[in-house]
Amino acid sequence: MMGRSMDPDTLLRLLEINKRLAGETDLPRLLEVIMDSVIELTGAQRGFLILVEDGKVRFQTARNFGRTQVEQPELQVSQTVVRTVIQSGRPLLTDNAAQDPRFEEAASVTALRLTSILSVPLRVQERLLGALYVDNAARRAVFGEKEKETLQVFADQAAITIRALWRQRQVEEMNRALEANLERKSQELERVSRALDQTPYRHDYSEIVGRGRHMKEVLLLLDKVIDTDVPVLVQGESGTGKELIARAIHYNGPRRSGAFVPVNCGAIPASLLESEFFGHMKGSFTGAVENKKGLFQQAEGGTIFLDEIGEMDLEMQKKLLRVLQEKEVRPVGGKAAVRVNARLICATNKNLRREMEAKRFRDDLYYRVSVIPVEVPPLRDRTEDIPDLIAHFARRAAKEMSMPEKRIAPEAVELLRRWSWPGNIRELENEIRKAMALSDAEITADDLSLEIQGDRAAREPVIGAAVPGSPAPDGTLKETVERAERAAIERALEESGGNQTKAARRLGISRVWLRKKMERHGLLPASGEAP
Ligand SMILES: Nc1ncnc2c1ncn2[C@@H]1O[C@H](COP(=O)(O)OP(=O)(O)OP(=O)(O)O)[C@@H](O)[C@H]1O
Ligand SMILES: [Mg+2]
Repeated sequence: MMGRSMDPDTLLRLLEINKRLAGETDLPRLLEVIMDSVIELTGAQRGFLILVEDGKVRFQTARNFGRTQVEQPELQVSQTVVRTVIQSGRPLLTDNAAQDPRFEEAASVTALRLTSILSVPLRVQERLLGALYVDNAARRAVFGEKEKETLQVFADQAAITIRALWRQRQVEEMNRALEANLERKSQELERVSRALDQTPYRHDYSEIVGRGRHMKEVLLLLDKVIDTDVPVLVQGESGTGKELIARAIHYNGPRRSGAFVPVNCGAIPASLLESEFFGHMKGSFTGAVENKKGLFQQAEGGTIFLDEIGEMDLEMQKKLLRVLQEKEVRPVGGKAAVRVNARLICATNKNLRREMEAKRFRDDLYYRVSVIPVEVPPLRDRTEDIPDLIAHFARRAAKEMSMPEKRIAPEAVELLRRWSWPGNIRELENEIRKAMALSDAEITADDLSLEIQGDRAAREPVIGAAVPGSPAPDGTLKETVERAERAAIERALEESGGNQTKAARRLGISRVWLRKKMERHGLLPASGEAP
């Protein structure tokens, strides 16, 4: 069908235009080129390119003969013509639309005073992509069969190019979406694996600060015992975090919806222990005005935490042992036994084995409560956790006291690391809270307790000697300075293990100068040689 009546000149132009289309890789630009070519081919006054996307008719571009854009193109054409072409998939040509009986009903044809109109479908095989539309309002019968055929041939080529770029755009968009998705996923994965890295544990220990080697061992052990029901004995000095660990066991375990009932065995008077533990019936003794549930019953389905179990007297130990063996309690003054179902966690700051060996703790009870012993190391043995703990308590204190967070001077951190912490973490917590309250914008060494600072004064004898208000040193100024100098040199040598180069650097003098001074103070080794 193509080109039967087409003259060689038109064919050449079509080929030329085709080459231009084929070179376009960008869809919006391709549409512009098509539009220009349409005007050029048909000599129309105006041209419109319409595409059907997602079932909607869209005017993509529109040109006047002078290659300027047509504003609001959808209001400038006969919608009836566009719809007819798109629905039928066939070209439409009219010499004078205003008189064409096919458009009698079309308001726009009259309103816009449309005359010559040519519109052809943009299609690839059976698929319809849209339409091309050209018109000339001033003259009648501008387009004939020849223009119709030329435009259709051109439109068929254009449609193939449009569809190719359309598909390419779809693929690109899909790729972009996939890439974005992939990026999101891999970020997510990275976040999760980073989180996993930081907590290699099965349970949540976010309340327990400190991830040094010692605490890691403790937490890995907790991971293993939490889901079991075996009794745990937490041992450690006062203030090491024994109760915190007991709570972590309860709140991470299968009994977390039950109660956690802490009992300080050392604080209950012996006479009340039994009624406290097992409950009592109304009237069973003076003051028992009503029935009372014991601690074991309160912990039903949960955990009973026997703190300071080493303080329990032997008589009570016997009764506790019976409860653990028979899994039931008999309230004071009651006849019936009540079954108990509570996990047992005990804690002590004594060495329970030694207590047992000294016959102050029953051995049968010892073996019952210490199935899994958890040793919490003292803070002085895990100084690696101190910086994290300082930051944690400082942040918490700032929040409690509604004050801004404060910087902590490195020297202060160093002093805190060196302190022996007899009161362990509780002592550190109090120290930080106090320093936060008393310090200015920054916590410095001066804000720390004197005993912690005291360490610092001892390490600085020279400065210490010169502090105003300290006892006046004996002798003349020269003697005092000499003594101080000798002390400083001795100290520097000691701290650098006898290495003179390091000692000189410490003192801020040259090595030659240091050796001169050492000679004067009689500090040179017999051989006189540097190590
Ligand atoms: N690893 C830790 N991270 C954060 N806070 C901790 C840690 N260990 C202990 N603490 C805090 O220190 C304080 C003392 O802890 P806890 O009461 O658990 O110690 P304890 O061993 O039971 O002491 P005591 O022997 O005196 O009863 C608590 O305020 C607790 O929250
Ligand atoms: Mg405690």
